[in-house]
Amino acid sequence: MRPPRSGERHGPGVPNRDGAPDPDRSRGQDGVDDAGRVRGQDGVDDARRVREQDGVDDAGRAREQDRLPDQDRAEVGVGPWPGGRAAWPDLTGPDGARYDPLLLEHGDRRNVVDRYRYWTVEAVVADLDTRRHGFHVAVENWSHDLNIGSVVRTANAFNAAAVHVVGRRRWNRRGAMVTDRYQHVLHHATVDDLLAWADRAQLPVLGIDNLPGSVPLEGYPLPRACVLLFGQESVGLSEAARGAARDVLHIAQFGSTRSINAAAAAAIAMHAWVVQHAGS
Ligand SMILES: C[S@@+](CC[C@H](N)C(=O)[O-])C[C@H]1O[C@@H](n2cnc3c(N)ncnc32)[C@H](O)[C@@H]1O
Repeated sequence: MRPPRSGERHGPGVPNRDGAPDPDRSRGQDGVDDAGRVRGQDGVDDARRVREQDGVDDAGRAREQDRLPDQDRAEVGVGPWPGGRAAWPDLTGPDGARYDPLLLEHGDRRNVVDRYRYWTVEAVVADLDTRRHGFHVAVENWSHDLNIGSVVRTANAFNAAAVHVVGRRRWNRRGAMVTDRYQHVLHHATVDDLLAWADRAQLPVLGIDNLPGSVPLEGYPLPRACVLLFGQESVGLSEAARGAARDVLHIAQFGSTRSINAAAAAAIAMHAWVVQHAGS
């Protein structure tokens, strides 16, 4: 039997997603849940933040969906595999290992595309690994930049080769919406460490910032394999990062603000790479 797709009606008590509120917004990850957002940003609820940063759900493959409030579990994804255990795919067959029995049993409420419904995290990562793109994303993290989670989520959406966090190891995972589980995330303590890594991998590093001497991203021929390096929200690219970059590229702006949000800039730059190289 074909697995249901998100939004299809499947099984008793499992509502269709059509017409439901945007699940991301309803979970408050994009700033809808003011209470959660304030706690996450002002450090009042440190315990909660630490739980989110540490990915406390490593123990179980299906735990990702357990982190959602009940009402959201009911709105997102698909229910138990239709027809019950008798209709499950052959878990001992060639493709059987990709399925997570817990998800087959209880439904898959994760924020994954239909292709990966009921798959284990490991199987999804392995499949993504077969077709990751040539660009890497690096972001400086000197004072716990809240944008990094969002950058990771976008990097996952565009199937970046990896995300590199430069500076502090810990970063706020909230905006990642659990996509960090499907994304290779590496840490480098300093820009020099990142550079040494890029050197070994023979990857040019391109800074992304609107700085004196930067050149327009628009029309710039981005290398197929490269590292796109972003600065921190408040201060922008560090001196070390500026010095490390082959070129620094700016995104054209036309309004009054000095800059756009770092996560928004990262999304634009990744998409610029996608426009030039994806599918070709
Ligand atoms: C909020 S900006 C801060 C620095 C900015 N240069 C300034 O003068 O205000 C933080 C990061 O977002 C990215 N960014 C923001 N606006 C950008 C733009 N127009 N072009 C390229 N990157 C940008 C860069 O990676 C930058 O390091």
